[in-house]
Amino acid sequence: MDKARKLFIAGNWKMNKTVAEGLDLAKDLKRDLALVRDVDVAVCPPFTGLYQIGQFLDGSNIKLGAQDMYWDKFGAFTGEVNAAMLKDVFCACVILGHSERRQFFHDTNETVNKKTKAALAARLKPIVCVGETLQERESGRTELVVKDHVTGSLAGLKAEELVEITIAYEPVWAIGTGKTATTRQAQEVHAFIRKLLADMSDSSTAARIRIQYGGSVKPANAKELLGQPDVDGALVGGASLVARDFVDIINNARS
Ligand code: 13P
Repeated sequence: MDKARKLFIAGNWKMNKTVAEGLDLAKDLKRDLALVRDVDVAVCPPFTGLYQIGQFLDGSNIKLGAQDMYWDKFGAFTGEVNAAMLKDVFCACVILGHSERRQFFHDTNETVNKKTKAALAARLKPIVCVGETLQERESGRTELVVKDHVTGSLAGLKAEELVEITIAYEPVWAIGTGKTATTRQAQEVHAFIRKLLADMSDSSTAARIRIQYGGSVKPANAKELLGQPDVDGALVGGASLVARDFVDIINNARS
């Protein structure tokens, strides 16, 4: 692989899999991906599966991530979990600001920013999601929206913090729809994000930050998408629920 940045492919299981089902999937992945060292791999089960799946994967080359967290340290926040609790159940990373959370659960740039800072303070690596809706793309506002998400969600972060973050560019219209951004559309936005990151820090910092693509990534399109110069991995939804598909995505991206 000739990219400066190591590919990072993560599976976002969303609200799928009981503990037993998740363990079955993790077992297949641990076996089939045991030799993969040239790509960073993570799975992000729902909260209920984290402890057991994390324990099972601990020490393997597959990292564990959560799908969200709250920024405060502890206290009266019914229904929430904090960064230390995620670390306690083996998490190395956490997805923040996913479009489904922005859309259905009122996440905003401000709350994503607080969560990002709290994750970094706990040494949990954030995967910060950004991306436009179909309506925003069709009205020519893709760059405006992506800029707002990137600068708002990452406001106030220093260069040494930015390099700990992964950005996931997930055009909302491509999520779960079977519609993938073309390689050109993806590369254009990824290059734009890297320029924004350079403006927020400097170009050598921006060159170290990984930008994943997400939205209907499948074995058949992984190689082409992840072959783009500024596409440094993928955040995979539906196809990460099937071991064969997730493994094929990783192997196709490596080839
Ligand atoms: P799909 O791969 O199912 O389109 O989901 C993408 C996604 O939202 C990953 O976070």
